[in-house]
Amino acid sequence: MTGSLLAVSDLHVSHAENRRVFDRLRPTSPDDWLIVAGDVAEMFAEVEKALRGLRDRFRRVIWAPGNHELWTHPDDPVRLRGEQRYQALVRMCRDIGVLTPEDEYPVWRGAGGPVTVVPLFQLYDYSFRVPGAHTKEEALRRAYEAGVVCTDEMLLHPDPYPSREEWCWDRIRKTERRLDALDPTLPTVLVSHWPLVRRPTDVLWFPDFAQWCGTERTADWHTRYRAVVAVYGHLHIPRTTEYDGVRFEEVSLGYPREWSRRAAEPDPIRRIL
Ligand SMILES: [Fe+2]
Ligand SMILES: [Fe+2]
Repeated sequence: MTGSLLAVSDLHVSHAENRRVFDRLRPTSPDDWLIVAGDVAEMFAEVEKALRGLRDRFRRVIWAPGNHELWTHPDDPVRLRGEQRYQALVRMCRDIGVLTPEDEYPVWRGAGGPVTVVPLFQLYDYSFRVPGAHTKEEALRRAYEAGVVCTDEMLLHPDPYPSREEWCWDRIRKTERRLDALDPTLPTVLVSHWPLVRRPTDVLWFPDFAQWCGTERTADWHTRYRAVVAVYGHLHIPRTTEYDGVRFEEVSLGYPREWSRRAAEPDPIRRIL
């Protein structure tokens, strides 16, 4: 196999400028795989159309959900909420041949392989709190006071779980069982919308936003589960960093107002391996 393992996230194709970027996304070789680390769009049909478009261009597409796919947007005719919405997204992906966190994890055998590619859905639990905020309630109150409240509070419903953090903790338990059962001789590429460790959120312009960005419960996953690269998005701060000797790649495109400051014609796809 001669291709590359590529990744992108936060395509937010509901923005016309982002759709133009999306239309230009192409593989560099017919064997390329593309990781899509969440925030494709909000409307169910738009997510499907975009993922189908990528599936037609790349040998294999691997998707992990972002918070935007999980929103129940007031304009979306698909009214599903929470876990039911996630499961419907998974079924849609299976219908169009896109891999999800619920499928068997594929092994990349091209350049840098073999590695197990693990798409994750772990959500967040408000544990990335600003100093001085000791509980979720305190952290949320400070965010409301600062006017920095993630739209998830209005549109990302945790049903049937009582809260987003309880959904998150159940995801963590289920995912750890699968990660523990992986072939221990193979390294991994861990893929999630939210960063597995807190440090990438240290550079957020609004520190209160970190509470919607991950969970302390995944802090050691990159070392515990043999990651050679951890891919994430959500922060809209594309960059490469290293924690505990593991490369972390934030692969977001972001909103037009963000990327247009950096490039007239961005090429957001990053080579992972
Ligand atoms: Fe995003
Ligand atoms: Fe996001």
